[in-house]
Amino acid sequence: MITFVWAEDENGLIGSKGDLPWHLPADMHFFKKVTLTGDVVMGRKTLESIPNPPLKNRENYVLTSKKSLDFKGGVICHSKEDVLEKTRHSKKPLHVIGGVSLFELFKNDVDRLYRTVIHETFKGETYMPAIDYSQFELIEEEEGAIDSKNKHPHTFQIYKRK
Ligand SMILES: NC(=O)c1ccc[n+]([C@@H]2O[C@H](COP(=O)([O-])OP(=O)(O)OC[C@H]3O[C@@H](n4cnc5c(N)ncnc54)[C@H](OP(=O)(O)O)[C@@H]3O)[C@@H](O)[C@H]2O)c1
Repeated sequence: MITFVWAEDENGLIGSKGDLPWHLPADMHFFKKVTLTGDVVMGRKTLESIPNPPLKNRENYVLTSKKSLDFKGGVICHSKEDVLEKTRHSKKPLHVIGGVSLFELFKNDVDRLYRTVIHETFKGETYMPAIDYSQFELIEEEEGAIDSKNKHPHTFQIYKRK
């Protein structure tokens, strides 16, 4: 099974200057809970946005066109076919965790969407590619709790392909 796991604001913004546009530990917690059920695949720029990669207790597949990448503890891939070949025998979900090019690359293959909507608008330049939600059914939705550490109203949604 292939999933997408991401957070976006009301305009579909996902990134700003190589980082997340917001600080929302509850979403990091949700991200961790979901992705620990399988392995993750990401683009080289998303890898660079992670403070101490690799993400622990998950295989980290990273897509790059670079011949050599200074990244220990993960698996370097050079194409979608390369990712699919390297994960072929895995029974675990493969979680696509961004960024834009990865979501584009796997949009016809994704079975499940884990989307966090943050009900505000932020500044940034990286937007989630369009997803045809008519092909998906919303199966779970939960409003996130707001507290002193999680000030942005947010909703966790899970969709499965119809
Ligand atoms: N809100 C969220 O949930 C979320 C999730 C993920 C990322 N983000 C944010 O998004 C931004 C980073 O994402 P991004 O979209 O700019 O970049 P990205 O997709 O993470 O990385 C792009 C890079 O991936 C490699 N790549 C992509 N497709 C490839 C292919 N088919 N074959 C070989 N290599 C390929 C290339 O690396 P090379 O240049 O090395 O060849 C490309 O430059 C950051 O701001 C990050 O914080 C947000």
